[in-house]
Amino acid sequence: MVRGLRTGSPAGIQWCTVVELAIAVRDVVRDYRRPRTSLTRPGPVVHALRGVSLDVARGQRFGIVGESGCGKSTLLRIIAGLDQPTSGSVQVGGVEISRLPERRLGFLRAQLQLVFQDPMGSLDPRMRVRDIIAEPLVAQGHRNNLARVHELLEAVGLQPESADRFPHQFSGGQRQRISIARALAPDPRILVADEPVSALDVSVRAQVLNLLDELVHRLSLTLVFVSHDLSVVRHVCDTVAVMNRGEIVEMGPTDQVYDRPVHPYARQLVAAAPRLQAALAGRTAAVLAAETLAARTVSSDLVGSPNPLARPEAPGLATTTAPRDSSTPTPASTPDPTPASGPAPKDAP
Ligand SMILES: Nc1ncnc2c1ncn2[C@@H]1O[C@H](COP(=O)(O)OP(=O)(O)OP(=O)(O)O)[C@@H](O)[C@H]1O
Ligand SMILES: [Mg+2]
Repeated sequence: MVRGLRTGSPAGIQWCTVVELAIAVRDVVRDYRRPRTSLTRPGPVVHALRGVSLDVARGQRFGIVGESGCGKSTLLRIIAGLDQPTSGSVQVGGVEISRLPERRLGFLRAQLQLVFQDPMGSLDPRMRVRDIIAEPLVAQGHRNNLARVHELLEAVGLQPESADRFPHQFSGGQRQRISIARALAPDPRILVADEPVSALDVSVRAQVLNLLDELVHRLSLTLVFVSHDLSVVRHVCDTVAVMNRGEIVEMGPTDQVYDRPVHPYARQLVAAAPRLQAALAGRTAAVLAAETLAARTVSSDLVGSPNPLARPEAPGLATTTAPRDSSTPTPASTPDPTPASGPAPKDAP
């Protein structure tokens, strides 16, 4: 959201635009000390974040990409108030949260919710779905939440009857829908998703991505979306930050970073990024690199060597033809009732 503000001297009033920030991160450092392995020396220090700064405007879809161990989840945990930085500042909705004790983070839980990578690990197997989804509401003191639970189930494409079942009675894609419903329960303004489709069966990744895309659009949410996969981030996000070894090495509009990466690491990452369809089909960067090499050999015979940083083919999501959620449901589970929904992917052909 952008609003106008009058500034300047009394002699001449100027107008400038002020972007309302949902999240402001300044010079955040996070060091972890590993357990000691020697009696005489302290354990080694891991520099998980080395001075990260970023702004996320309200309504923005901000992606964070980078290889495993570069600090993505650490950054998200700090933004969500689940961890504290060694130094630096984090503001959410204009409130400094980095030094607030847990008991004063209630406002943050109402404003910002998380979706994790592994839906089974993040859902209590002993709780019924209605209690799982209502949990954040109960924590806020709300009672009689069944109508809201049904509304949320419908929003994520599940039947109201799902409320009485347990997590193990659903497929992976359906469980991630339940996680998303729980995250939306307190009506947050910010959704933070850490690799939300990486653990899913390849056949349902597109559906869950499209669901997230549609909900963020419909509810005017601010999204922070982490993935090690640049092509998936490109589908969902308008801005992307590339992380390497605890630092942001490049940041900007997704198309710009994808089409004209500047930092050598960002160039490497973009060149290795599988196309979206391939990523959703679970093909690794190594397989694609081999294919690219083979294709380059063939095409250089014909027309010369292609540019490895050239924009990948518009991938698009096969939303209408994507198979239904079929990721190893238990016998008691129902098939995912929802075909992929939401707006056509922005990069659809
Ligand atoms: N609680 C902790 N104690 C010690 N080291 C930690 C802790 N949490 C994270 N680290 C280390 O910090 C670094 C960054 O970890 P982080 O989980 O943020 O990476 P990531 O980018 O999310 O990786 P992935 O893509 O595999 O999820 C890693 O070296 C990790 O081992
Ligand atoms: Mg992680």
